[in-house]
Amino acid sequence: MGAGEAASALIRARSGASEWLNLQAGIMRHHPGYIGVLAPLCIFIIFLLLTLTASYKPIIVVHGLFDSPSDFHQLLEFINETHAGTNVTVVDLFDRTESLKPLWMQVEGFRQAIYPIMQNAVDGVHLICYSQGGLICRALLSTMPNHNVDTFISLSSPQMGQYGDTKYLKWLFPEYMKSNLYRLCYTQLGQDFSICNYWNDPHHRDLYLNNSNFLALLNDERLHPNATAWKRNLLRIRKLVLIGGPDDGVITPWQSSLFAFYDSNETVKEMTSQPVYLLDTFGLKTLNARGDIIFYIMPGVTHTYWHSNRTVYDTCISKWLT
Ligand SMILES: *[C@@H]1O[C@H](CO)[C@@H](O)[C@H](O)[C@H]1NC(C)=O
Ligand SMILES: *[C@@H]1O[C@H](CO)[C@@H](O)[C@H](O)[C@H]1NC(C)=O
Ligand SMILES: *[C@@H]1O[C@H](CO)[C@@H](O)[C@H](O)[C@H]1NC(C)=O
Ligand SMILES: *[C@@H]1O[C@H](CO)[C@@H](O)[C@H](O)[C@H]1NC(C)=O
Ligand SMILES: *[C@@H]1O[C@H](CO)[C@@H](O)[C@H](O)[C@H]1NC(C)=O
Ligand SMILES: *[C@@H]1O[C@H](CO)[C@@H](O)[C@H](O)[C@H]1NC(C)=O
Repeated sequence: MGAGEAASALIRARSGASEWLNLQAGIMRHHPGYIGVLAPLCIFIIFLLLTLTASYKPIIVVHGLFDSPSDFHQLLEFINETHAGTNVTVVDLFDRTESLKPLWMQVEGFRQAIYPIMQNAVDGVHLICYSQGGLICRALLSTMPNHNVDTFISLSSPQMGQYGDTKYLKWLFPEYMKSNLYRLCYTQLGQDFSICNYWNDPHHRDLYLNNSNFLALLNDERLHPNATAWKRNLLRIRKLVLIGGPDDGVITPWQSSLFAFYDSNETVKEMTSQPVYLLDTFGLKTLNARGDIIFYIMPGVTHTYWHSNRTVYDTCISKWLT
């Protein structure tokens, strides 16, 4: 419940109470014994009014590469346990191998699924977006001028891109390694795969800047006319919660989950040293200056366990689901 609504509920409750008191005063003059019954009743009614209107904001969950909603049953149980009654939607779109579809196509699909949920949520919604889903969510936030996302929780997402050999990569493109994947990814054909949309090869910046149709735009590294609007849209969120950890094993470098990334020597440079941060191209610096980015580094969590780890949930997620 928003502060404004809480206040108006309170005012409604109070004016109701004063009518009751007036009524009581009237009754009391004739039947003084009634006051003992009516006073607790008033308090009960005020209490009821306040609790009935108090509820948690709906939560929308966006899954990652090769996932489907069934992978999130544990997270749903955690939320049910700590925030009973919360309406949680795990969007059932682009599941499993469909998640390889180009990210802008996925963003469009998720937009259509998510928009009605936002419209039904007068006080706004929270987003929990896992892995690749974190990039989909960031693109949604940047391109939806009227979104009402309160807190955006980015759960081990390659927010600054990916550059690493993983089992996914080996399975998908057996003939490529991180050192030569740019040859495929930075082509029109390559950009038809989601993972190429955020492939960020620090040794081929020019090709990335010229050919990445997704991350280079989202970061406003390649100039585009809607950048100002996208930044304004992203900044509508209240909080950005970034969660990642050194034992992830898939996100490379793992610090990409916290907006850090490799320089041209493959040395990880922290978020505040990134050009996109320093130039505040898409709002990251503004968010941080507002004090609205929360960072969690959680060791001991491998990539597929982020959404089922109770410690992660209790430490990094639960308290933001208000
Ligand atoms: C939430 O937890 C309660 C109590 O454990 C259980 O009865 C209910 O089925 C759960 N609801 C969901 C949606 O999991
Ligand atoms: C949860 O939210 C969705 C989308 O707004 C809505 O269709 C559905 O009825 C809600 N469910 C409950 C139990 O309120
Ligand atoms: C990037 O695009 C510009 C303009 O189209 C072109 O001049 C430049 O050679 C390209 N760079 C690479 C590495 O493809
Ligand atoms: C950019 O903004 C214009 C006008 O608001 C809109 O029509 C267009 O679809 C936007 N382009 C992108 C890529 O969002
Ligand atoms: C990369 O390392 C070389 C040799 O150590 C150094 O000269 C160069 O300045 C480094 N580049 C960056 C971007 O740090
Ligand atoms: C859960 O998270 C905690 C805290 O980061 C970590 O120590 C533990 O190893 C994790 N367990 C699993 C199964 O991921």
